[in-house]
Amino acid sequence: MLPFDPSKRNSFQRQICDGDLVIVYERHDSMKAIKVNNGSELQNRFGVFKHADWIGKPFGSKALSTKGGFVYLLAPTPELWTLVLSHRTQILYIADISFVVTYLEIVPGCLVLESGTGSGSLTTSLARAVAPSGHVHTFDFHEQRATLAREDFEKNGMSSLITVFVRDIQGEGFPEEFCGTADSVFLDLPQPWLALPSVARMLKQDGVVCSFSPCIEQVQRSCETLRAKFTDIRTFEILLRTYEIKEARIKVEEEDKGSPVGSLPYKRRQYSSSEENHECMEKTNSIMARPSRETKGHTGYLTFARLACI
Ligand SMILES: C[S@@+](CC[C@H](N)C(=O)[O-])C[C@H]1O[C@@H](n2cnc3c(N)ncnc32)[C@H](O)[C@@H]1O
Repeated sequence: MLPFDPSKRNSFQRQICDGDLVIVYERHDSMKAIKVNNGSELQNRFGVFKHADWIGKPFGSKALSTKGGFVYLLAPTPELWTLVLSHRTQILYIADISFVVTYLEIVPGCLVLESGTGSGSLTTSLARAVAPSGHVHTFDFHEQRATLAREDFEKNGMSSLITVFVRDIQGEGFPEEFCGTADSVFLDLPQPWLALPSVARMLKQDGVVCSFSPCIEQVQRSCETLRAKFTDIRTFEILLRTYEIKEARIKVEEEDKGSPVGSLPYKRRQYSSSEENHECMEKTNSIMARPSRETKGHTGYLTFARLACI
């Protein structure tokens, strides 16, 4: 993303320039990536926005439409990119991605191998984690997907940190030129066990592999193969619960007045059925948090293993 463009200053203090990619944010479930083009306009339900008005504003600014509506202009971080990229395949989302980056122990300077590239959702976060001096080599056997991923990394400013190869990793393994060079390897393949012997050759001593699989049968088969060369084999399923934060008007009993209403146990906020109790209740505004209906369930299993020492 922008912070790694050596010709420019850190994006979060930088002003938006003609040609920059910005994330136009309406709300958490409605945003899109737009390349700023002096002379162009964005039209949405909030009105018409002239790109020319965005140039020179800092990232994070509120932009006004001709009829007074607004959007926010955000810097294209990997987290936001994952939410706006075009889906050419299933992708990894933030909950799995953050766990992968942490458990693979990826830090600036690491060399990471990945297959398949897919829509490049994970690749973008891997690249930010290894920046500015590391590199991600990502492989997909689907030529058109590889081409589109390259174009996306150009667009989002990550291309200097990522090389995209076309290769059948299950059939051929990773190229021998990477033998013993990888700090970590990530697989999102239908038959990851076929690639694991090659992964063991690619990793540096003590390196870590992670394989993402939607089905437990794939996990079992991978674990059987991992036992030959790897240790500390562990599988995780990341389940995330999102909460909606809403302001609501609720009734409060006299005795509860003055206490932090939002944190009262639910039962104490119930409407009473008896008339006399109704008289000693008054309405108040409060912030409520409740589990979101959009909460995602199972995405897949993440299996990690460390190359056994010799
Ligand atoms: C689910 S997608 C990966 C999504 C990616 N993790 C993301 O977050 O955007 C799986 C990719 O693996 C690729 N693939 C499947 N078999 C492969 C193989 N044998 N060698 C290389 N790539 C392969 C597919 O073309 C597909 O693009």
